[in-house]
Amino acid sequence: MCGIVAYVGKQEALPIIIKGLKRLEYRGYDSAGVALLNENGLSIYKKKGKVSQLEDFLAQNQDIKSTIGIGHTRWATHGEPNDANAHPHYSSSENFAMIHNGIIENYEVLKTDLINKGYVFHSETDSEVFINFIEDVYKNNDCSIEEAVRLALHKVVGAYAIVIMHKEEPDTLIAARKGSPLVIGVGEDEYFLASDATPIIEYTNQVVYLDDYEIAVIRDNKLQIKTIENVETNPYINQLEMELEAIEKGGYEHFMLKEINEQPRSIADCMRGRLDAKNGRLVLGGLRDYMNKFQNADRIIIMACGTSWHAGLVAEYLFEEFARIPVEVEYASEFRYRNPVVSEKDFVIAISQSGETADTLAAIELAKSKGATIFGVCNVVGSSIPRATHAGSYTHAGPEIGVASTKAFTAQISVLTMMALMLGYQRGTLTESRYIQLLHELEAIPAKVEKALLMNDKVEKIAAQYKDARNFLYLGRGYNFPVALEGALKLKEISYIHAEGYPAAEMKHGPIALIDEEMPVVFIATKDSSYEKIVSNIQEVKARKGKVIAVVTEGDTQVKNMADHVIEIPETHEAFVPLLAVVPLQQLSYHIAVMRGCNVDQPRNLAKSVTVE
Ligand code: F6R
Repeated sequence: MCGIVAYVGKQEALPIIIKGLKRLEYRGYDSAGVALLNENGLSIYKKKGKVSQLEDFLAQNQDIKSTIGIGHTRWATHGEPNDANAHPHYSSSENFAMIHNGIIENYEVLKTDLINKGYVFHSETDSEVFINFIEDVYKNNDCSIEEAVRLALHKVVGAYAIVIMHKEEPDTLIAARKGSPLVIGVGEDEYFLASDATPIIEYTNQVVYLDDYEIAVIRDNKLQIKTIENVETNPYINQLEMELEAIEKGGYEHFMLKEINEQPRSIADCMRGRLDAKNGRLVLGGLRDYMNKFQNADRIIIMACGTSWHAGLVAEYLFEEFARIPVEVEYASEFRYRNPVVSEKDFVIAISQSGETADTLAAIELAKSKGATIFGVCNVVGSSIPRATHAGSYTHAGPEIGVASTKAFTAQISVLTMMALMLGYQRGTLTESRYIQLLHELEAIPAKVEKALLMNDKVEKIAAQYKDARNFLYLGRGYNFPVALEGALKLKEISYIHAEGYPAAEMKHGPIALIDEEMPVVFIATKDSSYEKIVSNIQEVKARKGKVIAVVTEGDTQVKNMADHVIEIPETHEAFVPLLAVVPLQQLSYHIAVMRGCNVDQPRNLAKSVTVE
């Protein structure tokens, strides 16, 4: 959460920073600000609200020409969203300015100490304490700025990605990270720093991912990286493979709609080079060295949050059905604070779109400390989780900018399905002929998703009818139970309508009391092994006058005769239905949110990358 951008080089810093902040707005949009340094000194401009509000504010200022600057877009943790709490923050002397993404846990102790020394604070943030603490160390140690940062970091508890400027050093940026991401773009005589690569990609594809406990000093056009133990390291330059068009809307009104529609391609991209049904080939490079451990694991533990957790639930069904290994799916946030029983015989799969989720990272560290093998399924290349795991497979869905996850979910399920099929085949729990048949079926999924997307107009009409509902219920069984949870999550996060997902059979144990003629109930009622059972559940809802919207298999007539609305999706193996069934649910939530005038891509209170616990 929070996005940071910085620039030093030969160009005008401000336009680069503003554009970068807009690209990072998915990480938080409570306030935005910049600090710029020129012959008139070190100036900070900041405003509550979105980056566009900051732009309007900056338009009234003349004195903003500079070739060095830092910028921030905030997701509020300490202190409400207002101008004072916006970043960057000055130190008391106004010699330092800092942007910070993360949380300083011991800020109260540091603050009390600083107040006793006479420091005055202008915000409620932990970040202002952080920069004043650095200033205090600087004053008391007669050292360089980077040395003061290094010494201060030894005393600070928490997570941070920071970039600091000092009034007296017009060509220097100092950055550090622990637990929050920071990427450095290396251009020709210029450097770009950002929370992810999206603000950097149009200027250079050479990047360095700063590691935890590393400090980067960019001075006189040179980059030097040291650990906080003062050991110099060699910056490793990675080549970015991201395309600029992947982070632009490409004619769509919202990123979310673009990303929903990209799914035939993103799923195909995820399978490309891995799945070749004709030749019976399925290879996940990341698993190669760990296949033995995977095959012989006593148990698979899946850890994730939110939508990624729903993908994990689908995977539980897949692994147990195809590979016959017991699976537990854990909320990372719960796992990390229990005293879980984990051993070296466990194979842990951590799922995360952003690769930065703080709870998932902490759960990984805990499982690792108990000897388990950790495998990551992540989307953002070079993010923290892939670097904290033993091995992993990227989902290759491309950048997901809409805060509500769509294409990342189907790409996660695609990777997990491939893992389950490989495992089942290797363990002999899937016969060769069944395996080949499943590979063919999986390969056909992108084309079927394309077909499922064609229901859009019908879904939009249904959305118009139910956009004012106050509650929704989503019900599914088996593989479609996690899809029901995901459909409900999508609706509530972007339209602010209360929605619950349930296993359909659980309805009679409580939620049935909610059903009346006002209540829309979305059933995922495809032709699978529990079809007859879900048909009975639909009857139970109809008997109580609930409104039924059913996602069904093409050609279905039985549910059609009972439901108020049906949305057809192509037929496939029941294990692959989630990849198709979730599509109309994403569309339904999208259209309802648009009709209610909600900010679809940046829903209130949310941020895409949850780097705080
Ligand atoms: C929902 C959504 C969130 C994320 C969750 C985990 O649409 O986006 O629920 O799924 O915050 O994030 P990652 O996958 O980045 O670990």
